Amino acid sequence: MTEKSSSIDRSDLLSERLPGHLAIIMDGNGRWAKARMLPRIMGHRKGVQTVQAIVEECSELGIKFLTLYAFSAENWLRPKTEVTALMMLLKKYIKMEVPRMMRNNIRFRTIGNLKELPEDIQAELENAISETASNNGMTLTLALSYGGRQELVNAAKSFAAKVIAGEQRIDDLDESTFASFLYTDNIPDPDLLIRTGGEMRISNFLLWQLAYSELYFTETSWPEFSLKELYKALLDYQARERRFGLTGEQVRNLM
Ligand code: FPP
Repeated sequence: MTEKSSSIDRSDLLSERLPGHLAIIMDGNGRWAKARMLPRIMGHRKGVQTVQAIVEECSELGIKFLTLYAFSAENWLRPKTEVTALMMLLKKYIKMEVPRMMRNNIRFRTIGNLKELPEDIQAELENAISETASNNGMTLTLALSYGGRQELVNAAKSFAAKVIAGEQRIDDLDESTFASFLYTDNIPDPDLLIRTGGEMRISNFLLWQLAYSELYFTETSWPEFSLKELYKALLDYQARERRFGLTGEQVRNLM
């Protein structure tokens, strides 16, 4: 960690310029474990501790939406032992976290093709979603068996089915109607995407929704992503000028 990041604190952040929606690609668990001669699953286990700390901190900071890429559609292709271990960790996490979500007024949601998950996990997730449904603090969304391209294809199919049923007209399709067919209906687009673990790619995550998001990549692996690392990313975001295709001058005149 640099000298600058070690001195960063929560009080350095401007509360009025926090991202409304923060999305995170939590990468580097396996490499973290390998570097310590540990099995990969130990990296995921340590990663769960980071999830707990970051969720709690984002909620306390007043971030309204936090979306975590916990299991991609492509992750099913990993060795069976790793997939099974990840599913067990997920089940344990949800069971353990519901009381904490209730205490912290966190609403829980998921995005992705949940039907591919084991039935006991689907039941656990549904329970967490319904128990926290009336909380109105931060919305925590876990992306599970999620793929951005699959999401877009599903949205196109759902829209086409409505056209065939006479409930939609092709000429009425615009960006906001299309977005309502995505898993993220009623969730605003992310303002900031953080990816840990040193890779600089999107990996099929929120392809539509990230169109205007600020991107932040760090070498730090997810198990080592501390609160100070989070503050550093948020400070970096706060120093950026978001232009949404306008000129800098136009944006400043709007403020
Ligand atoms: C990437 O690390 C991470 C994942 C595939 C899953 C993320 C899972 C967790 C943080 C733990 C489970 C989460 C919850 C919410 C229970 P990687 O294995 O691809 O790391 P590598 O690139 O170093 O191999």
